[in-house]
Amino acid sequence: MGQEVDLAFIQAPEHRPNLSINEAGGIPLVDLSPLNSQNSDDPQALVDLVAEIGAACRDYGFFQVINHSVPLEIREKMESTAKEFFALPLDEKKKVRRDEANPLGYYDTEHTKNVRDWKEVFDFYVLDSPLIPASDQTVDRRSKTARNQWPECPHKFRDICNEYAMNVEKLAFELLELISLSLNLPAKRLNGFFKDHTSRIRLNHYPPCPSPDLALGVGHHKDGGALTVLAQDDVGGLNVRRKADGQWVRVKPIPNSYIINVGDIIQVWSNDEYESVEHRAMVNSERERFSIPFFFNPANYTMVKPLEELTDEQNPPKYREYNWGEFRKARAHGNFKKMDVENLQIYHFKISK
Ligand code: OGA
Ligand code: NI
Repeated sequence: MGQEVDLAFIQAPEHRPNLSINEAGGIPLVDLSPLNSQNSDDPQALVDLVAEIGAACRDYGFFQVINHSVPLEIREKMESTAKEFFALPLDEKKKVRRDEANPLGYYDTEHTKNVRDWKEVFDFYVLDSPLIPASDQTVDRRSKTARNQWPECPHKFRDICNEYAMNVEKLAFELLELISLSLNLPAKRLNGFFKDHTSRIRLNHYPPCPSPDLALGVGHHKDGGALTVLAQDDVGGLNVRRKADGQWVRVKPIPNSYIINVGDIIQVWSNDEYESVEHRAMVNSERERFSIPFFFNPANYTMVKPLEELTDEQNPPKYREYNWGEFRKARAHGNFKKMDVENLQIYHFKISK
């Protein structure tokens, strides 16, 4: 990328980042140590943890966890192999390039809301080729072409990615159960949706950008899945729109922590009790930045709608049901190409009063 920023990257004035926003009043920090086996004999600690997570989901839609179950060595290996991959010549990376038929692999021209992002990514499914039952007529056959594409180098890239995925998947299930409890549901109430889950890991590389005041690494958006578990490096750049006042706040990098956010599906399941919150990633002119989101998504055949236990006559369902596989496919298409129309959003399924 040259010294001049191509017009395709330039954000509309109202979406340009304020380079001096601060980290004060950031997102809640949650200590997961009550989940460790040696602490599991203290039921009150678990009750307090569930309450803390519930408040974070309700008031911020975002929180940061420490003392989680993912071993640091596994994360470090993932981070260094991601760095090695992005350092390869472009021709090498393009051998595993995403295309219109297969949304997985390497990609360097993603758009968020029709403005190009200052980044390159590598995407893979946690479970390869998520199962689509043959009986399901609503999911078109094209999604069967989605297969992981693995580069030949770096050495052991695939193994390292899979090992990282297994470990973060475990953390994602732990968080899902805590969130379920925080909604006064049984711990495993939501697990069934994730039997053939379509979770995806994305390796993000944000190169230094000569105009960090005009471009963004990822433009403002909400995550369309259930839950996101993000590892960011020490450079920082993630901004979250604070629910209390609508201001953008910076998420301070904390070593070996994960940033968790509620996605659109939890918003729908909880009938707006928990909301998916807007966020974006700033870039900077000096340092490249890496981040690794794990998008925890249900099975393709999941019909997403407000949970019956959380709705009644006083609180009727606020959304019509939709099929996750269809939703995901429509979204992926909108991000692949610059389009003239806004891409699919959950408010398109909102039931008007
Ligand atoms: C995303 C995202 C933020 C970051 O990829 O959906 O929000 O800090 N990334 O990289
Ligand atoms: Ni996101």
